[in-house]
Amino acid sequence: MSDIALFSLSDEHRLIRDTAREFAQKEIAPIAAQFDESGEFPYQTIRKMGEMGFMGIEVPEEYGGAGLDTLSYVLALEEISKVDAAHGVIMSVNNSLYCYGILQFGTDEQKKNFLIPVASGKAIGAYSLTEPSSGSDASNMRSRARRDGDYYVLNGVKSWVTSGPVADYIVVFMMTDPEKKAKGITAFLVEGNTPGLRRGKKEPKLGIRASATSELIFEDCRVPVANRLGEEGEGFKIAMSVLDVGRIGIGAQALGIAEAAYEFSVNYARQREAFGHKIGEFQGISFKIADMKTRIEASRLLVYNAAMAKERSKTTGERFTLQASMAKLFASETAMFCAHAAVQIHGGMGYSREMPVERFFRDAKITEIYEGTSEIQRLVISRMELGLR
Ligand code: CAA
Repeated sequence: MSDIALFSLSDEHRLIRDTAREFAQKEIAPIAAQFDESGEFPYQTIRKMGEMGFMGIEVPEEYGGAGLDTLSYVLALEEISKVDAAHGVIMSVNNSLYCYGILQFGTDEQKKNFLIPVASGKAIGAYSLTEPSSGSDASNMRSRARRDGDYYVLNGVKSWVTSGPVADYIVVFMMTDPEKKAKGITAFLVEGNTPGLRRGKKEPKLGIRASATSELIFEDCRVPVANRLGEEGEGFKIAMSVLDVGRIGIGAQALGIAEAAYEFSVNYARQREAFGHKIGEFQGISFKIADMKTRIEASRLLVYNAAMAKERSKTTGERFTLQASMAKLFASETAMFCAHAAVQIHGGMGYSREMPVERFFRDAKITEIYEGTSEIQRLVISRMELGLR
């Protein structure tokens, strides 16, 4: 399998990619199927990923992170996800949806209290926007936060929270002024053991089963005003700009799944024989390989391009919404395309739990759904291109 040098990676980037690859092969590959089967949260490997600096890659060292750039993050996440997408999403949410928002919008005090434990991998972070009756229409939320002296009192039910059952810290978005709709939403940093916060139903998921997903129930949960992230009413913009970063992460996760499905397919097509030939000699199979490879390289270009746009934004402050949405859209549909083709190429073996290909198929699907469905990505991209926003 040829490695197309579309981007000539620096020695440092290669080192990060190779370190993540080696870690994933050595530590995650042997346990991935077992944790997928049991649905148990992989605390031990996640802790080791924290020790390697993978849980806060872009966070400066003074706040517990590795102080690296966005391309380093994407390369490491791609390698982890290539072996197990469940570890990939736990890493992505910790880095993007949790750490980035605090780094970008938090006070120095909030960075010290809420970033250091999570970026260093000693604690787990989550992001909570979705509710049972508002997913894509995110600003149409029912949960409420009302000011009471030096506190806000939070009430409502949040759903589909990645790492919800295990999170030590959560960024949560609630309505403080319903009349203002999107401009009435505020972000809060909540410690997982705050009285009035309960973990609700754990989702029995099709894929990424080793990652834990649940509802969070807030019942008169009192959060100090000092834990408000940004100003009152800035929550929706914070949520959206954090999701721009999250979508680059999911693009990288999807790229990893697609590559895994592809590599298994090439190996199988080279050895499996039918009608006196290796199956890779039949165009029904070889053209699938060609389409998979082409879409993977196109996804890589989009994902790395989005990573570099985000890196540039650190100095220019420019938004990278368009690049992030295009990367997430194309890479997630590529992951599904490749996983589907991989099952077909493997035939019965692709349908069996004895091979990881069926896991790639189940894991790929979520990348087209979470952090904005493919339809939402098309909405974001087209609105920007048509000048509707
Ligand atoms: N960056 C900064 N600001 C942004 C922004 C961005 N990317 N996107 C929108 N905004 C701003 C807009 O400029 C606007 O501000 P002004 O009024 O001042 O101009 C404000 O936010 C409202 O924007 P819209 O009018 O576009 O809002 P909308 O209600 O039409 O919704 C949407 C837009 C794109 C559909 C948005 O709701 C969306 O992305 N929905 C999908 C939500 C999503 O991805 N949910 C996944 C949650 S996380 C998850 O999956 C679970 C997990 O744990 C992994």
